[in-house]
Amino acid sequence: MRLLIGSDHAGYALKEHLKTVMAAWGHQVDDAGCYGEEPVDYPDIAEKVVLGIKGGQADLGLLVCGTGQGMAMVANKVPGIRAAVCNDEFSARAAREHNDANVLTLGARVVGSGVAASIVKGFLESTYAGGRHQRRLDLIKAIESKYLKQGEK
Ligand code: RB5
Repeated sequence: MRLLIGSDHAGYALKEHLKTVMAAWGHQVDDAGCYGEEPVDYPDIAEKVVLGIKGGQADLGLLVCGTGQGMAMVANKVPGIRAAVCNDEFSARAAREHNDANVLTLGARVVGSGVAASIVKGFLESTYAGGRHQRRLDLIKAIESKYLKQGEK
């Protein structure tokens, strides 16, 4: 799979670790930053990653900050993005199977590197189940459309 990953300073070390792990699993991993432990603002990185997903440069996105929360809040502002904060593997699998999540966010201050790798594995291995879940995704889309300013897609 083509993956686009990003983090802020709090998630930097975990991002670097996960890049190695995902590459070893055979994925193509592009890095949207940050590139060191100097403080950066997570909204800038989240926006870069989700624009990459929307633009078709990657199949799925992965964002790491201290908690996963800020990254998810930003990512979910962008129409068509369904970002899930998952700090356990079950949630990651369900987020793909039920919610067709296209971005996973992780908290580097919440999970260790081994647990994080298992969460990512669960997310990447799972696929959207469709069926009864599609009606709910259509409802998400309808709510998005309702609140979009005219002219935006
Ligand atoms: C940075 O200190 C921290 O606020 C950030 O990484 C993230 O946890 C925000 O949601």
